[in-house]
Amino acid sequence: MTKVIAIYPGSFDPPTNGHLDLIERGSKIFDELVVAILRNAEKSPLFSLAERRLMLEALTAHFKNVQVDTFDGLTVDYANRVGASAVLRGIRALSDYEYELQMALMNRKLQPELETVFMMPAEQYSYVSSRLVREVAQLGGSIKDLVPEMVEQRLREKLDPAIKLQHARKTKAGKRA
Ligand code: PNS
Repeated sequence: MTKVIAIYPGSFDPPTNGHLDLIERGSKIFDELVVAILRNAEKSPLFSLAERRLMLEALTAHFKNVQVDTFDGLTVDYANRVGASAVLRGIRALSDYEYELQMALMNRKLQPELETVFMMPAEQYSYVSSRLVREVAQLGGSIKDLVPEMVEQRLREKLDPAIKLQHARKTKAGKRA
């Protein structure tokens, strides 16, 4: 039987618990799932592509059928390159639907054989978005339970370089001991 490969494209700036929830669900229904981070030169992301990739690789390492990659250009072309027959996208609320429908139909127009599969993340993540996580963190609010601990730590380091320095010193001291 042929393997069903799906891609899960997005910006993941940063990855949230909602993304992770969707990756887990996708990994159960597809033979292989490629989390594909868009290299978008137009946007100025908070996390570099390399940082997002490292975080996602660490966070998905326990899923044997999940890989992380980056891409630019059209999603349908990338799907072709990796032999994917489906695009996984999450729908949290009705407000996501219009944008997602437009993208799915445009992708279908560009490549009719590629199916978009929508999945719903767990309801506790239905209001969680990378944009809101960035905003709340930047304004000093708590993002606990919204992102994995690793992402929370990276966000803290990003927003307060003094914490990063402290962390680096501790790691260095730990290595020496
Ligand atoms: O997580 P995001 O930022 O909502 O993801 C949007 C993404 C990456 C799926 C979308 O912008 C995309 O597919 N970009 C690639 C360019 C492309 O194929 N555009 C036409 C799609 S309709």
